[in-house]
Amino acid sequence: MLGGRMLHGGDYNPDQWLEYPKVFEEDVRLMKEAGVNCVSLGIFAWASLEPEEGRYEFDWLDHIITRLGEEDIQVILATPSGAMPHWLTQKYPEVMQVQADGRRNLPGKRHNFCYTSPVMRQKIQALDRALAQRFGRRDNVILWHISNELGGNFGDSTCHCELCQEAFREWLKKKYGTLENLNRAWWNHFWSHTYTDWSQIHSPGPYGEITSTALILDWRRFSTDQISDFCEMEIRTVKEASDLPATANFMDFFKGLDYNRLKKGLDIISWDSYPFWHEQKDEVPAAVRTAANHSVMRALKKAPFLLMESTPSGISWRQANPLKRPGMHMLASMQAVAHGSDSVLYFQWRKGRGGYEKFHGAVLDHKNGSNTRTFRDVTEVGRRLAALGDRLDQTVNRPKAAIIFDWENWWAVEDTQGPRLDFDYVEWILSHYRAFWEAGIEADLVNMDADLSGYKLVAAPLNYLYKDGYADRVRAFVADGGIYVTTCFSGEVNETDLCYIGQHPLEDVLGIVPEEIDAPSDDFANSFTYDGKTYRAFDLCGIVHAKADTEVLSVYEKDFYAGCPAVTRNSFGKGEAYYLAAESDLEFLRAFYGDVFQRAGLENPLCAELPYGVTVTERTGMDGRKFVFVMNFRNEPVCVEGIGSRTDAESGAVYENRLELRAFQCVLLEG
Ligand code: GAL
Repeated sequence: MLGGRMLHGGDYNPDQWLEYPKVFEEDVRLMKEAGVNCVSLGIFAWASLEPEEGRYEFDWLDHIITRLGEEDIQVILATPSGAMPHWLTQKYPEVMQVQADGRRNLPGKRHNFCYTSPVMRQKIQALDRALAQRFGRRDNVILWHISNELGGNFGDSTCHCELCQEAFREWLKKKYGTLENLNRAWWNHFWSHTYTDWSQIHSPGPYGEITSTALILDWRRFSTDQISDFCEMEIRTVKEASDLPATANFMDFFKGLDYNRLKKGLDIISWDSYPFWHEQKDEVPAAVRTAANHSVMRALKKAPFLLMESTPSGISWRQANPLKRPGMHMLASMQAVAHGSDSVLYFQWRKGRGGYEKFHGAVLDHKNGSNTRTFRDVTEVGRRLAALGDRLDQTVNRPKAAIIFDWENWWAVEDTQGPRLDFDYVEWILSHYRAFWEAGIEADLVNMDADLSGYKLVAAPLNYLYKDGYADRVRAFVADGGIYVTTCFSGEVNETDLCYIGQHPLEDVLGIVPEEIDAPSDDFANSFTYDGKTYRAFDLCGIVHAKADTEVLSVYEKDFYAGCPAVTRNSFGKGEAYYLAAESDLEFLRAFYGDVFQRAGLENPLCAELPYGVTVTERTGMDGRKFVFVMNFRNEPVCVEGIGSRTDAESGAVYENRLELRAFQCVLLEG
């Protein structure tokens, strides 16, 4: 736990308020009132820190850090590469990204610098070095915040300038050694795409190469490496003069960047969470997506993470931006903690007077100071976290189940032309994760490189691409007693999108032989009966044959593949593997996983049936301490029955057999 306590506070941008000296003193006073103990400084402050090339102005920041220190407020200090000052883009246009269609960006916006540009790297390095020398050993500075949402830029994280093209070719040379190897790996005889010189290789673009899926995959890998390399360069630089750990704030299911690669240079994972609460009356889909994101972040290092940003009220970047209803701010904050966050931090402390984000929710509004509902909500969270103190220190969720969520698979399956063109990998992951969430079974979302040995159950929905060695790891996991679940359109291709020939790489483990895949329209939707109930099979229906010893748990009921297996189970070594041949709905997944959890011996920490909208997670310490978070995402009271005798970890109250939860309430129990 950083700084020995749960962090509460968030992005603070006093560089926008330097002409309003009274504002800073008011901020400090109100931070104390709201229980803020940590702020992130300097995230977009390059122009204030270096108003002209090579002239640094740090006194204002020094004053702020010192003053915050006097008030026992800790600082997460950012490197300001997230937004470039105009003097930089004007003098060195190469720092601005080139888009896929070859146009160079104009100045402005943020998150849009070229990660390869030597000028960009030199300029930010010089500034980072100076910042670290001045502030890197201050008592109240606790963490480096590298850049901001690396790769963000409204969805396109890559730069296609000549410097990047050249770096891409070099990256490919290192990976493949010879052009022959590359042509073979990418299947380049197709449409005469064979390269005869490295200089012929170009990044994918709208009126260039968009059909070579292997090229696109490698381009995405390269871009991830380039951004990670940039981030690692910044980390090395600040660590020359400081021993502080470093983080970089990640985003909600961000496709542009494989966080499993980026994580390697980071000491702590953090992320920015902006769920779409109150988009519909049923908050469960938003709660499930948020929980899944938390699980991705925690699983990256199997350690507590930081909630680096969240909004204390509404956001400002969707068509309609509802305010958080009473209770939701506390619940969403506790949800993060429940899944392993050691902080509740906001974007941002005070709304700017102008600029693009002036109406985005913040702790302080333009008017009314602390006399707002938002301020009171924030203060309540501050109090609760302060009362928890360090009780959650060294505790983390230790799930016995995992779901494979892999960026490379995400890229590959959504780019491929196959039975469907509309795969939404994240939706597949979420539909399986939801069955876990509803049952209160916490799962790590890990990629294919993960060590599976600590899990009892691993599910791998729509696992189209297999990384080298993955099939062997799964085989060993099942042989050793693990339960593995996978679906149709899995194990189709290798790392360069070449189809496996001969047989499915896990044919022995799964006990099935896949033959065809149907993508029926609604008119041709199929059905199957599982455990006495009939479910729809739609969108994707694999036609497979069961091997002799494989149990067929359900078969298709219609069309030319009536009688073919829809759900199978195969014993392999000490474990077993399930194959779900058809895409079905949540109702089926609930029933199916209900059975699988039982076979895996997995129960939720309350060992109780959970009403709709309620979930539980548990943080445990190596010393045996256990905390169970019970969360009600319904806007009405609910009761959880059959919980035995439980003690409230905060109030000390004892609940005998039943726990009543108010609307949007989170109760923390001793384990
Ligand atoms: C984040 C970003 C912040 C702010 C916030 C508003 O993605 O890091 O700087 O823009 O969104 O929601």
